[in-house]
Amino acid sequence: LRVLVLAGGLSHERDVSLRSGRRVAQLLRDAGLTVEVRDLDAELLPHLRENRPDVVLPLVHGSTGEDGSIRGLLELLDIPYVGSTSGPCRLASRKPVAKAIVAAAGVATPAFVTLPRGLFHEIGSAPVLSTALAGLGLPLVVKPEDGGSALGVTVVERAEDLPDAMVACFSYGNSALVERAVVGTEVAVSVVETADGPVALPPVEIVTDGPYDYDARYNAGRTEYFVPARLDAATTQAACDAAVAAHRALGLRDLSRTDLVVDAEGTPWFLDMNVAPGMTETSLYPQAAQAWAAQGGPSFTELLVELVRAAAA
Ligand code: DAL
Repeated sequence: LRVLVLAGGLSHERDVSLRSGRRVAQLLRDAGLTVEVRDLDAELLPHLRENRPDVVLPLVHGSTGEDGSIRGLLELLDIPYVGSTSGPCRLASRKPVAKAIVAAAGVATPAFVTLPRGLFHEIGSAPVLSTALAGLGLPLVVKPEDGGSALGVTVVERAEDLPDAMVACFSYGNSALVERAVVGTEVAVSVVETADGPVALPPVEIVTDGPYDYDARYNAGRTEYFVPARLDAATTQAACDAAVAAHRALGLRDLSRTDLVVDAEGTPWFLDMNVAPGMTETSLYPQAAQAWAAQGGPSFTELLVELVRAAAA
């Protein structure tokens, strides 16, 4: 089986993607598959047409990687690939759209407003920000509408810090999602499709000494992970159910990771969906897969091989 792993791209998460790609490619090679890793560049289209891999594994994070563009190209070329199709990716990668769809499926998600950069600049920051504050209160989380890896994300405790948070956000995207901050336990739930439908892997609990920012995500030692998360059985089930419901509501395929915060009452609040979850040494999906293996599930490598084989079949 000839597998093409797509990694890199020009998003802010390029380095993360290259790390994900290298790691997964090595695991697949160790499992005996023929694997090539390719960046997104001008040569990609001719390369795909001439070499036609048996299956593509897209591991490009952010922008074109997760907004469906690359997958749409693979659909045009009729080359099989692992993961969600282009239409659902387009919906899932835009946080306000994903939140609306997931909320309609009955999963709680924090109240929010979206503020496009143009509006912010045209009518001035003060009225826009006071509208956001009046509706949502404090603390707030400001994040790019379609970013990843916490780039451009700020938790705002004081109203006077909101303008700086907006500016930081707009250096990563053109539209800001301003969301009520839910205090609780940060949990990520990975989902994989099996013959019986989507299955939630053991939730990963994230504990940091500060914000779970880019540095805390990708530099070992800054963050402590508990897998499975230290939640009681009912709350674990609620988090898993929320992730599977979100995966289904967005029409996703093969694999996804839902980021949640679980409040003091045990309610999981949907924050974000990842259609190309990180696969680096410190990423959450591989940790969840490892915990699943310890509970009798397949190893992370077996899970990847199964996804690749199923997509190619
Ligand atoms: N957006 C990164 C890759 C993640 O959430 O894993």
